Amino acid sequence: MLSVNDRPGLQAFCPTIMTYAAITGWGKCMPPAILTNDDLSTFLDTSDEWINSRTGMRERRVSHVSAIDMSVVAVSQALACAGLEGRDIDLIIYGSCSNDEGVPNSASGVQLAIGATRAAAMDVNTACTSFCYGLATATAMIRSGMVKTAVVIGVELISRFMDWSNRNVAVLFGDGAAAVVLQASDVESGLIGSVLGCDAAARETLRVRGLGLSYANKDVRFGDTIWDFDGPVIFKRAVTAMAEASIRVMADCRLTADDINLVVPHQANLRIIESLAKYSGIPMERVMVTVHKYGNMSAATVPVALVEALEDGRVTPGATIMMPAFGGGLTYCSLIVKWGDRVTPLGLSDKALPPCTKTALELVNESRAVHDAHGRSLAGLMSPEFVEASVALR
Ligand code: UT7
Repeated sequence: MLSVNDRPGLQAFCPTIMTYAAITGWGKCMPPAILTNDDLSTFLDTSDEWINSRTGMRERRVSHVSAIDMSVVAVSQALACAGLEGRDIDLIIYGSCSNDEGVPNSASGVQLAIGATRAAAMDVNTACTSFCYGLATATAMIRSGMVKTAVVIGVELISRFMDWSNRNVAVLFGDGAAAVVLQASDVESGLIGSVLGCDAAARETLRVRGLGLSYANKDVRFGDTIWDFDGPVIFKRAVTAMAEASIRVMADCRLTADDINLVVPHQANLRIIESLAKYSGIPMERVMVTVHKYGNMSAATVPVALVEALEDGRVTPGATIMMPAFGGGLTYCSLIVKWGDRVTPLGLSDKALPPCTKTALELVNESRAVHDAHGRSLAGLMSPEFVEASVALR
């Protein structure tokens, strides 16, 4: 086994590595209301056949509670799994692009609910890669000695700002949350290599018009959005970026595809995952897939898939796990995690969401009833100031 200081990529990452940041706790929160492809077909010109054959998706979740509420359940499970309490935590990173409020930040809401009175609390938004960027940040802070114990959350509440009139995007996304606990450790485990990047030349291919201060004071109803979304371009650039990042991070860690026991990728489209696996030389049997049941939960996809891989017994002690992801920006990454010895929780939390009394379709139809797609908001959402200099994308 190579020592960490023999690995050039890791030396660049942190020249005086003293400790590792082991993942010792994990937990998820999936809202119970299920939106099927047939539900979507009741108000969109689409079909189960189209959605399933183009994306691999059959259903996704719609939350009846806030993103912070989902996060608190996920974090409570992760803390119980690690045998810790809120007051043991030094740092909370809330990875998401769907914040309940701009100010105060969302991590502070989680901090208050879990009693993490000593913790620093920050939000990280790199869209779908937010959890992975957060995991890299928290790991670096632990390895540098700044903090000893951290919680990293990946959560998304996309149903509240979805443009339900646009079949190009409305069929793709879902809500959910998951979290991990990181603890300083002298044993080699946790994140051992990372490639983080951003293909900013393609940032115009994925824009949610209506989110952010650029739309303030323009008669835009908050929640009423128009998505600029060039699916085929994003598809190609996502596969290339994730595959190249994966090949680079494996080389940095002096690993080959054969050394990767499990890939836990971002779940945007089954075809993207299959292309990535082929490009990276890893058979699909070693790839975790949840896209059929949860759709694309943006920042929540990787941590939810990781938690389910543990629940399914697909993470073995000492396993080497690769996590490639991409999202708006277009940010991308590939991480390599070496798992520790423990693959079962130390404890379980009884924290759970309140019951949901509505169907997912009822929740969506409530949003649709208040959105006016996009009559009142149209001028503000399509204001010419948001059109950037065009870039060659294809
Ligand atoms: O996490 C980052 C988020 N971004 C992504 O994940 C996007 C990555 N891109 C993709 O996953 C795929 O490009 C999509 C699933 C979005 C689209 O699949 P595609 O095979 O690239 O289809 P397309 O966009 O080329 O559209 C093919 C046809 C079009 O009709 P025409 O022009 O051929 O007549 C679309 O209008 O399918 C039509 N279409 C639909 N039909 C039924 C688009 N959406 C739908 C729909 N139902 N929901």
